[in-house]
Amino acid sequence: VIARSFSSSAVNSAIKNVTVIGGGLMGSGIAQVSAQAGQNVTLVDVSSDVLAKAQKSIGTNLGRVAKKVYKDNPAQGEKFVSESMSRIKTSTDPAEASKTADLVVEAIVENMSVKHKLFKQLDEAAPSHTILASNTSSLSINEIASVVKRKDKFGGLHFFNPVPVMRLLEVVKGAETSEATYKSMMEWGKAVGKTCITCKDTPGFVVNRLLVPYICEAIRLYERGDASARDIDIAMKLGAGYPMGPLELADYVGLDTNKFILDGWHKKYPNQPLFKPIPLLDKLVSEGKLGVKSGEGFYKYD
Ligand code: CAA
Ligand code: NAD
Repeated sequence: VIARSFSSSAVNSAIKNVTVIGGGLMGSGIAQVSAQAGQNVTLVDVSSDVLAKAQKSIGTNLGRVAKKVYKDNPAQGEKFVSESMSRIKTSTDPAEASKTADLVVEAIVENMSVKHKLFKQLDEAAPSHTILASNTSSLSINEIASVVKRKDKFGGLHFFNPVPVMRLLEVVKGAETSEATYKSMMEWGKAVGKTCITCKDTPGFVVNRLLVPYICEAIRLYERGDASARDIDIAMKLGAGYPMGPLELADYVGLDTNKFILDGWHKKYPNQPLFKPIPLLDKLVSEGKLGVKSGEGFYKYD
């Protein structure tokens, strides 16, 4: 899977310098795929501990790629890892880090006011040609863009977890995203090895608009006692060909993230039955059972 996306990265993009803000799960993956495609990357986080962790996991994951792509030439593989790593700088100062960027991809916490604060800062600090983009899962691109002056140079670049493996990138056009910005985002997406699709600024874009209600329906089915968690997951893997069952996937994405997305949409669209709160999901989250990251969700993890 990785080999396929890696080999498609020889596409040209006018964007050469990318700053990724947020060094967590998504940001570290976005930094990795950018660096392995030859981009100069600055990875930014408020926490230097997170940045150290991100560099470590990027190194490990690049090693996984090298093992496959350069399986007959380990020396070339080592060179690929060290060259890719050398293209990633880190910083704890978003404004400073955006000064050299052609593109800034934001992957910080899913919170509108925190994102607004950051984008105001970036809009002031970044050169006028710089494109600003958000990796938001569920918030409106137009609403995020409302605080910047360069609305024509703002859009959504929505990656999927795990970023080095998932081959899709959703390129989201806001109401004021220019054609030139849209074209640059599509070209950059291809250059970092992804297949791009386009979507308007609608809740969840394409994937999450379909995936989140599906996961929620699976939780409701389990909550009603219609089938066991294991049987629901087996059913969708063997009966529908999904790589993970819906409850496994909910644990993988994070139950807090699922709840956050659902609550936000319910508040905005109170009459949509698919977005109604789920008592079992609320209970698990309130007990700190967040899925893989906390060691327990629908399943237990070591
Ligand atoms: N980083 C890098 N590589 C990874 C990886 C990671 N975190 N996890 C797995 N891999 C690689 C492995 O090295 C392996 O590579 P090869 O096939 O080339 O050997 C490959 O991915 C498969 O991994 P595994 O054999 O360990 O495990 P698997 O076959 O069970 O696959 C999976 C793991 C790719 C995660 C697969 O189960 C899957 O596709 N699950 C569904 C994931 C999904 O739906 N993601 C979207 C979530 S929604 C979202 O992201 C949007 C949002 O806004 C919330
Ligand atoms: P995460 O919690 O793993 O990482 C977020 C990082 O941002 C943390 O390391 C935090 O220290 C840092 N941060 C917070 N505020 C910051 C600021 N002001 N400046 C710099 N760094 C800051 O979260 P994640 O799962 O990587 O999600 C990030 C974004 O990507 C969210 O908008 C989320 O909705 C979206 N997303 C998540 C997934 C997923 O499956 N987890 C998939 C697609 C998109």
